[in-house]
Amino acid sequence: MWLYLAALVGLYYLLCWYRERQVVSDLRDKYVFITGCDSGFGNLLARQLDLRGLRVLAACLTEKGAEQLRDQTSDRLETVILDVTKTESISAATEWVKERVGDGGTAQIPVCASLLLLSMKELSYFGVKVAVIEPGFFNTGVTNSEKISGAMQEAWDQASPEIKEIYGEKFLASGE
Ligand SMILES: NC(=O)c1ccc[n+]([C@@H]2O[C@H](COP(=O)([O-])OP(=O)(O)OC[C@H]3O[C@@H](n4cnc5c(N)ncnc54)[C@H](OP(=O)(O)O)[C@@H]3O)[C@@H](O)[C@H]2O)c1
Repeated sequence: MWLYLAALVGLYYLLCWYRERQVVSDLRDKYVFITGCDSGFGNLLARQLDLRGLRVLAACLTEKGAEQLRDQTSDRLETVILDVTKTESISAATEWVKERVGDGGTAQIPVCASLLLLSMKELSYFGVKVAVIEPGFFNTGVTNSEKISGAMQEAWDQASPEIKEIYGEKFLASGE
């Protein structure tokens, strides 16, 4: 009995060790598409993966951000302007990626864009793994208090009188 258990535990650790050793091969042939590359995590990831030799397709919100990123990286990294809140911007970026990645990548992007959120469970059947990385608190643009209160003020200014009544002035003050 104990021998059997020890063998199982040993097998488990052997499998873990084997999985840990797996690395993606031929990095220089691999494309990676990253959004929000003007600053923060997206920018850092784009620069790191470019250093490792991957073909980085970096989506930035602004031309200024894209230009700065290109200045800091190799000629292999390419940028595109993408506002993730605008359908036409997403379509244009998708076409841009298709032109670079070719047919091999065309199935993945529309699937990810249109189906992923609706059908994560179904996708697992096809061996597609969705990894969500939840970082802790990092001091980036997203956590900048001035930016946050500016965005709250903007949302408040645009809100209808009904919404303002429901939330009340105190709600706005609580975010400052
Ligand atoms: N920092 C944290 O503690 C933390 C923790 C958990 C999760 N996250 C998540 O991590 C992601 C990256 O955030 P971050 O911390 O790296 O902040 P960040 O430095 O502000 O990065 C966000 C990037 O997205 C760009 N962006 C803003 N609106 C966009 C839009 N509509 N379309 C396309 N790009 C847009 C920003 O461009 P501009 O610079 O030009 O505005 C910026 O480059 C966010 O989804 C955030 O919620 C962050």
